[in-house]
Amino acid sequence: MARPKHRMGNLPAEATSFIGRRRELGEIRKKLATARLVSLVGPGGVGKTRLALRIAADLGRGFADGAWLVELAEIRDGALVTNAVLAALDLRDQAAIKPLQILLSDLQNRQLLLVLDNCEHLLGDVAPLVAEVLRAAPRLTLITTTREPLQVPGEHVIPIPPLQVPPGDGTQPLAQLRQNEAVMLFSERAGAASGTFELNGSNQAVVVALCRRLDGLPLAIELAAVRTRVLSVEQIMDRLSDRFALLTGGGRAALPRHQTLRTTIDWSYDLLTPAEQVLFRRLCVFAGRFTLEDVASVCTSSDVPATEVLDILSALVDKSLVTKEDVRGVACYRLHETLREYARLKLGDADEDELLEERCLEHYRTTCLRSADQARYRLLEWLAWAEL
Ligand SMILES: Nc1ncnc2c1ncn2[C@@H]1O[C@H](COP(=O)(O)OP(=O)(O)O)[C@@H](O)[C@H]1O
Ligand SMILES: [Mg+2]
Repeated sequence: MARPKHRMGNLPAEATSFIGRRRELGEIRKKLATARLVSLVGPGGVGKTRLALRIAADLGRGFADGAWLVELAEIRDGALVTNAVLAALDLRDQAAIKPLQILLSDLQNRQLLLVLDNCEHLLGDVAPLVAEVLRAAPRLTLITTTREPLQVPGEHVIPIPPLQVPPGDGTQPLAQLRQNEAVMLFSERAGAASGTFELNGSNQAVVVALCRRLDGLPLAIELAAVRTRVLSVEQIMDRLSDRFALLTGGGRAALPRHQTLRTTIDWSYDLLTPAEQVLFRRLCVFAGRFTLEDVASVCTSSDVPATEVLDILSALVDKSLVTKEDVRGVACYRLHETLREYARLKLGDADEDELLEERCLEHYRTTCLRSADQARYRLLEWLAWAEL
């Protein structure tokens, strides 16, 4: 039984300003004019999801049944991919019918744009599903984001590069620098974080050097930019340079990109207070979104007391390590997958992974049981909670 289709899509609102990417947007749009499957491929933190969502928001109106996002990052079991798509599309599972059958029969007459975000860890399950959906639903268009192509017939791969960085030593005219994507992102985020940051003649050379040092990787730029709240751009550059120098034996050789990002995350993590570090690494136990109540029930201990959870969580949001998004009026939080992978390593190092997994399971078990008790009276509320 499908629920009434009250929604024409489920794309989240953009929480921060979108910057640049005119070339990539143009290329994706052009590809989508003829192709039905476009994969945005690149490493974590490079900006694939932002691009996919931006394109979907732009083009969604041209699809009679709208644009829909399926987030696969949180799915661990490949067998659940089809269920994840059903859930995102607001279609209900039915005991007697296979999920794939429900999906294909619903999609076959619909004209919609589907975004499958983060396919890389489930390629073996996503690829056949995508092939089947494309066959069954002639008016459906798919955008995937993934670190590796799906290798499905008809797939058009668009490699996503980092943001454009300014050339040279940063002596070009300010007006020209302000048009550069990496510099724009840095200035935006630094301005938002500190309230006073402005690109000017005296900081332009360091900002350029920093953007170049960070390889134009948006996630790394955001982590560095928020620190302008307490550090000058020079200080940020000096401290990051020291770390990069350690890794490259003091030489000026470039690091591989994943190392650049990893090093920036390390730097950002080390700047946290001990309590922030503890909470951050524990947050990796949540798959997808979580609420303040989830955190208070699962992640607290003597070093992260329940009374301080909100403050510590807010500090992590301020530092761009946790993303806040409102879902139907409820404040929710999430970790970028790349940051979650990092947090998971740290949780393992601290030998807390088993304990936290247990507490997380226990929390969801209790919440479900409590809700089941009251479900007869509060079904709608419960469904909304389960979907957060
Ligand atoms: N064009 C852009 N404009 C503004 N912010 C961006 C842009 N591209 C990426 N970001 C930001 O950089 C971070 C990483 O981008 P994301 O799209 O999540 O990368 P990926 O999906 O490749 O891991 C996010 O916080 C995102 O909002
Ligand atoms: Mg992504």
